[in-house]
Amino acid sequence: MASFNLLLLPGDGIGPEVMAEVKKVADVLGKAGLGTFETETDLVGGAAYDAHGKAVADSTMQLALAADAVLFGAVGGPKWAKVPYEHRPEAGLLRLRKDLALFANLRPAVCYPALAEASSLKREVIEGLDIMIVRELTGGVYFGEPKEVVTLENGQKRAVDTQVYTTHEIERIARVAFDLAKVRRKKVTSTEKHNVMRSGVLWKEVVTRIGAEEYPDIELEHHLADACGMQLVRWPKQYDVIVCDNLFGDMLSDVAAMLTGSLGMLPSASLGAPDAATGKRKSLYEPVHGSAPDIAGQGLANPIAMIGSFGMALRYSLGLGQAADLVDAAIADVLASGMRTRDIAAKGANAVGTTEMGDAIVAALRKRL
Ligand code: IPM
Ligand code: MG
Repeated sequence: MASFNLLLLPGDGIGPEVMAEVKKVADVLGKAGLGTFETETDLVGGAAYDAHGKAVADSTMQLALAADAVLFGAVGGPKWAKVPYEHRPEAGLLRLRKDLALFANLRPAVCYPALAEASSLKREVIEGLDIMIVRELTGGVYFGEPKEVVTLENGQKRAVDTQVYTTHEIERIARVAFDLAKVRRKKVTSTEKHNVMRSGVLWKEVVTRIGAEEYPDIELEHHLADACGMQLVRWPKQYDVIVCDNLFGDMLSDVAAMLTGSLGMLPSASLGAPDAATGKRKSLYEPVHGSAPDIAGQGLANPIAMIGSFGMALRYSLGLGQAADLVDAAIADVLASGMRTRDIAAKGANAVGTTEMGDAIVAALRKRL
């Protein structure tokens, strides 16, 4: 039986609560003989800062580099509002992305039929929605230099962030998007702001060339990023795969997430390039939701996005696509049964907590194994 080594980084806020449910799911799959899941747990974000003054320790980075996959909960919270900028909890996540070279962030937005009512949009607009946002994750304004605040002679301050992309960075994220579209509905929408940004001009040019030269069978369209945000809210089902830079992807994926009824539902995968020798890629899986400090520690958080992220790890890193299908099906079973956490419950309806939802998914999974 194949053995996998997973690094669990629960992080802050609701991170530890939702990660606990993933462990249960991994245990069940292990007992069913689908694989041996060796897990190691370490600190990241504010928790790591409290323990050793850094948002991610070097020893943790070593574990992450060696793992078959990293599962990440969430980081941040008001407790760390005043820590120095370079040590803020988010810096831990950004270092993991950068040092593992996780340039491709896959954020599926799928509307479960049972949840169509939980969306703020009308049922017909989001029922059956299934889009994939492919966000570039190691470039753009998140990492571009210079990135600084300087004090001017007149005492004013001047802050700079730099949006920068090279041909190679755009080519490789475009290929990820086109490859995904191949096994989906064969359509890619590329988004940028070429009407105001030089990096947008290059982005559009490179994506167009890769599409024409390497993926002639995939339909390619271009939407300005602001218009894409508007179209996502107006008629999201026009999209299949949306490819965008780091910052636009951050925003558009939050919009897409809300379409599905809850931010608590959406998993994500961050992938590196396949290793030339082994074909393996570095990877990190995390829910799109954050640390939700307002409900942390109360057992109220929805663990579905975290469990779904583990499902993506099974599919994209561990070669266990069938197990991933079973996990997704178990989530759908539980939602179809009517069970809801607070974030997806109808007004006034009964809601269950994190462990009840996790246990129900585990039970549904057992039935399918
Ligand atoms: C996300 C988050 C992060 C980002 C934060 C926590 C740094 O919003 O993964 O979407 O901006 O990338
Ligand atoms: Mg975000």
